[in-house]
Amino acid sequence: MTTSPLPPFPAADESPLDTCLRLREIAPVVEVEFPGGVPAYLALTHNAVREILAGDNRTFLREPEHWPALHDGSIPEDWPLRAIVEGGHLSTKDGADHRRLRGLVGKAFTPARVKALEPRVRQIVEGLLDDVVTAGDVVDIVPAFTEALPIWVICELFGVPTEDRPRVREWTAALLAHTTPPEEAFATQNALQAYLHQLVETKRRTPGDDLTTGLVQASDEGDKLTTDELVGVLWLMLIAGHETTVHLLGHAVIALSQNPDQLELAKAGDRWDDVVEETLRYRHSVMMTSFRFTAEDVTIAGVPIPKGQAVGVVYQASGLDPAEHGEDADRFDITRERNGRLGFGHGPRYCIGASLARLEGRLALAALYRRLPELSLAVDPDDVPYSPSFFTVGPLSLPVALGPVRP
Ligand code: HEM
Repeated sequence: MTTSPLPPFPAADESPLDTCLRLREIAPVVEVEFPGGVPAYLALTHNAVREILAGDNRTFLREPEHWPALHDGSIPEDWPLRAIVEGGHLSTKDGADHRRLRGLVGKAFTPARVKALEPRVRQIVEGLLDDVVTAGDVVDIVPAFTEALPIWVICELFGVPTEDRPRVREWTAALLAHTTPPEEAFATQNALQAYLHQLVETKRRTPGDDLTTGLVQASDEGDKLTTDELVGVLWLMLIAGHETTVHLLGHAVIALSQNPDQLELAKAGDRWDDVVEETLRYRHSVMMTSFRFTAEDVTIAGVPIPKGQAVGVVYQASGLDPAEHGEDADRFDITRERNGRLGFGHGPRYCIGASLARLEGRLALAALYRRLPELSLAVDPDDVPYSPSFFTVGPLSLPVALGPVRP
């Protein structure tokens, strides 16, 4: 029984990351109050996060039925985060259902398919940069590049028509923002679901050379997926498949601008893969995951959590944990050892798109700094607006001065 009020999360006038770093001083796992008066735990250190990930599909479950507060009237019916927590997709499934859906995605989303994408990703990168360099001396590279590339790649991969891509981006941003009012959150979820049902039907009638068609065919050929399950898979792949990479690129540009020595190292040694990994440690795109639920009473990093509670894994705070990464954890250093990193998670829920994300990150940053070697921020980093979300956080706008342009 809690006797004193829980700390609010997110806290007013403080970034979610700063709040998490402050709370980490109290304990590795802290119970907080989410908007709507909803209590849940945050795992804030590297070891706490790793222990939880190791318990995935056993002590930590994702099916919403394991969170009694969702069903016993404690959490309001119109709680906006229900759209995320209750959405039927592979991140809200456990055990055999989870494995079945992951297996299906794996069949369509093979390493060979990702590798084959490299020339096309390069082409998209160069095309976007052609537009950037003609847009002026100072350009906001979020809409023009860091956002455009991942949305373009994921939509092309899944056969989402060009004209629908801005809508997919808008729906994603609205769903992930904690500032979205309940009616809008539910309306957005309904619109996206309806759109994806329609996309599945279109691909069933007119197959294309895309992953939606691949998934439709795999499910029609005996994997026995319902259309709702298929839509759930698409929902997650489209959202997780671009939002995180958008923020990876934005965070990388900021970190490199603030650490010119690291930028020089990256340029000199073509170390863009190190930049990607270090950016994910230093400012992870996933501030915190959606909730896991305790299947039994557990103790994580010495903190007891009763059965039936919700726990958010805070990747951003774990990357900055001095106990794991040293006292200089808040220094961006692309030469760090990479052992035990959690950039793409760990265990049964390891990121399905890690190789695609790495490919996009490496190609995008290499080309950006090859063509614009003196690119610099045109705003004070403290004035950069960030997405109003505690799930995925990144810059919403990033005006940069291009400097000299190379072909
Ligand atoms: C920089 C980019 C990316 C980052 C940082 C990232 C990070 C992560 C992390 C940390 C997880 C584990 C979440 C958890 O613990 O609950 C995850 C899961 C997942 N990611 Fe990614 N991801 C990225 C890109 C992608 C891409 C490009 C795709 C798809 C094409 C993708 C699809 C997924 C899916 C479907 C899951 C859920 C896996 C499951 O629940 O079994 N991600 N990602």
